[in-house]
Amino acid sequence: MADHIIDEAIDYASRLFEEDASGHDLGHSLRVWRGAMLIARNEPSSDAFVVALAAILHDVDDHKLFLTRGNANARAFLDGVQVDPDKVERICEAINSVLFSQNRGRRPSTIEGKIVQDADRLDAIGAIGIARAFAYGGAHGRGMESSVRHFHEKLLLLVDEMNTDMGRKLAESRHAFLLAFLDEFSEEMSLTV
Ligand code: ADP
Ligand code: NI
Repeated sequence: MADHIIDEAIDYASRLFEEDASGHDLGHSLRVWRGAMLIARNEPSSDAFVVALAAILHDVDDHKLFLTRGNANARAFLDGVQVDPDKVERICEAINSVLFSQNRGRRPSTIEGKIVQDADRLDAIGAIGIARAFAYGGAHGRGMESSVRHFHEKLLLLVDEMNTDMGRKLAESRHAFLLAFLDEFSEEMSLTV
């Protein structure tokens, strides 16, 4: 695989996310990349290059963060490092299916999109997911209860929405950790009121 392109994508994402404290930092993108590669090893029909770049770049045109249209940031980067036009289309399709399906409950149609979506969801649950939910609440000036509500409204539902076998397996232990955390949280809360 063209490793130098992966390295350059990481540099590009690190420059874009430098300033963000709302849960979309470089660390998130790198964890999604590593998780996606782990899942991809179990999905032989997937294109590892498309998975890697879609994962690293999955948030670079997220409308919550950037005002770009038509994957402008991702395309500018990929064209700049001379990725094949055909691969650029597949990478952007995977990214878009992740971003759209989050809003509309649709599953990505390509295996690469399914893998990156699973990796993105894995980073929203487990210990890291808990840390991100409270960091998000803090960054938006909200109290702990608001993040706990987000667990019930969204994070606890993710385990049943995974696309791949490996994604589901990893999600199950992280889901169990969320449940254990919520038990302990409410127990401690009940002692302090
Ligand atoms: P992504 O685009 O990477 O899927 P989101 O933008 O939906 O993620 O959320 C980024 C992080 O912030 C995630 O870990 C998510 O669980 C958390 N988050 C999003 N909305 C809320 C909320 N209302 N309260 C607490 N955490 C939230
Ligand atoms: Ni993400």
